[in-house]
Amino acid sequence: MKKLITVWLIATACVLSVSAQSIYDFSVKDNLGREVSLSDYRGKVLLIVNTATRCGFTPQYKDLEPLYQKYHSQGFEILDFPCNQFGQQAPGSIQEIHQFCTVNFDIHFPQFDKIDVNGENAHPLYIWLKEQAGGGDIKWNFTKFLIGRDGKVIKRYESRDQVATIEADIMMEVNPVLSNIMARRSVRKYLDKPVEHEKLETVALAGINAPSAMNRQNWAVRIIEDQKIMADVKGMCRNAPNLICVCAPADGRFDLDAGLMGENMMLAAQSLGLGTCIQTGPIRSLATDGKAKAFRDSLDIPEGYKLLYVIAIGYPDEQPDAKPRDTSKVRYIK
Ligand SMILES: Cc1cc2nc3c(=O)[nH]c(=O)nc-3n(C[C@H](O)[C@H](O)[C@H](O)COP(=O)(O)O)c2cc1C
Repeated sequence: MKKLITVWLIATACVLSVSAQSIYDFSVKDNLGREVSLSDYRGKVLLIVNTATRCGFTPQYKDLEPLYQKYHSQGFEILDFPCNQFGQQAPGSIQEIHQFCTVNFDIHFPQFDKIDVNGENAHPLYIWLKEQAGGGDIKWNFTKFLIGRDGKVIKRYESRDQVATIEADIMMEVNPVLSNIMARRSVRKYLDKPVEHEKLETVALAGINAPSAMNRQNWAVRIIEDQKIMADVKGMCRNAPNLICVCAPADGRFDLDAGLMGENMMLAAQSLGLGTCIQTGPIRSLATDGKAKAFRDSLDIPEGYKLLYVIAIGYPDEQPDAKPRDTSKVRYIK
């Protein structure tokens, strides 16, 4: 009977964790035994830590509290879950543990009730966290999970990982400009819903606020809203409902300026909940294909200019994963 109940408990925990879409689907107990829904932390950047008070890593509290103080006002929270599963290094009641951490490390972030993070009594939150980060049991105290503002796991850190490394990742999430940069992806599937004119205007304004050599602004931008024209060409450019066409002097001298405005527009679009895909692939078809004649006529490209690239823009119908970036391309000369 006991075995049956255990199997049922594990199965329930697994179903709970598998069906959960985000961290906000879980609830935990605070250090007074009250149920807390993690949806209370919706929209915040979270660092979730399994802690212990008698561990060689316990002094990490000295790094965690300043981290909390530094970023808390920007929407950052540390959620502390004491766990006695590693070398029994978190003995005592949660009240004793909380007092220890307050007296010795003056912690101000929320410390929850003790939980198991591995095994048959593992808290469903931890089953989900481990699964989202690619699986594998928690190895020791002070393993950490960074959660983005969308409630998804960004990264898992092991006990030895330096807080400085983690801080760099936290900064990319809490800072709205940096997190917008990090969240942008090229989107290649769109909802069949044209973008509101006002949003396109905002995107264009962001574009023309890019720097340009001697502020010459040697660019010409055409934004296609006419759905009849779009119907002719959208198949060539990832089927977005709207298209931003960026033209620059044909001699290529101002391609850099025109490129800079493109990233401005894509980041502005991202911040407005829109997806984009910059493309040069379809330029030839757009310039020559008979189907694109109405499109070409509508552009009215200035004399001596060429169509340099297009940006497909619309409401995303996919959430692509980040493409890998090669950090070795950057060298610091000290
Ligand atoms: C100059 C340039 C031309 C591109 N042309 C195309 C294109 O023709 N079609 C396309 O689907 N993506 C195109 N892309 C998008 C890249 O494939 C994409 O930026 C890259 O794979 C990195 O992915 P990410 O934008 O999601 O970070 C282009 C990007 C740049 C900068």
